[in-house]
Amino acid sequence: ASSLQEVIIPCASSLSGDDEYADVDWDNLGFGLTRADYMFIMKCFKDESFQKGQISPYGNIELNPSAGVLNYGQGLFEGTKAQRTEDGRILLFRPEQNAMRMKRGAERMCMPSPSIDQFVNAVKETTLANKPWVPPPGKGSLYIRPLLIGSGPILGLGPAPEYTFLIYASPVGNYFKEGTAPLNLYIEEEVVRASPGGAGGVKSITNYAPVLKAITKAKGRGFSDVLYLDAVNKKYIEEVSSCNIFVIKGNLISTPATNGTVLDGITQKSIIEIARDHGYQVEERRIPVDELIDADEAFCTGTAVGVAPVGSITYQNKRIEFKREGQLVWQELYSTLVGIQTGRIEDKKGWTMEI
Ligand code: COI
Repeated sequence: ASSLQEVIIPCASSLSGDDEYADVDWDNLGFGLTRADYMFIMKCFKDESFQKGQISPYGNIELNPSAGVLNYGQGLFEGTKAQRTEDGRILLFRPEQNAMRMKRGAERMCMPSPSIDQFVNAVKETTLANKPWVPPPGKGSLYIRPLLIGSGPILGLGPAPEYTFLIYASPVGNYFKEGTAPLNLYIEEEVVRASPGGAGGVKSITNYAPVLKAITKAKGRGFSDVLYLDAVNKKYIEEVSSCNIFVIKGNLISTPATNGTVLDGITQKSIIEIARDHGYQVEERRIPVDELIDADEAFCTGTAVGVAPVGSITYQNKRIEFKREGQLVWQELYSTLVGIQTGRIEDKKGWTMEI
């Protein structure tokens, strides 16, 4: 019974008998916060670069009331996962891609960012410090959340004078309460997620609170999440609040091109590569909402979400259902992705990093 609700478990370093695992109900992980013991923290001043960070016990951080992030939303976040293999090794998945995306985002948001090596090493250190919180094989993963925020005080609108990079972690299971059952998406026409020239293509914290209203409304009506259209024409599908989207017709798999208003997902790009390896034709392009009517299948991808099938999309009061039977494409692609992420399938791509 996974659920999205917040489950806050005291950070008590509560290890079970053999100390290999923390005392967690591994069979009932949803996407709530189960605080792992340690976080990583590193600071730097504007116009300087990050030097050395440190691991410290998970806990509250102190912020000046006039911190840039609190007043003007100068902040980015990332998400990556560590998984345990059947033989007990721990694998990270493409953390350098998160590091590069944070760098691009930091450039957009006028922030200094950690180097690729600093970022990847910090993810490694945080994961190793929290090893007992990496779920047993098949039970979920350790979700690792890097943040980069303008932590220094600033009153007039401008880049903050000081920055904090931190990473915390939580074991997680399925993102949606549906588990692996198909999602029911709702196409929103009033609320826009991103517009050309905005920050929709980077993982700015400012992309997320503005969609809460649409998500809350859709969930209240029984939908799983919201699919947004492009801001200019209101004609092309772009992104779901928490993940990217793919649609399939025959042998053609399409996903909205990441052209500045759509986040370039790491799971999205991995699935594109796997689908091509499996002989599918993949197009990254503008997808008119009208094409959904003829689609065979649709699915979502994201670090938190993984790969999730879409059962229906409701647009202008019409419910479009995807009812392909038999072996579904999303299952085939997801099984390969998870196989690589958990060491069950040989990683010929150099995507995993054993720590
Ligand atoms: C992720 O997939 O890691 C994200 O950052 C999405 C977030 C809304 C949970």
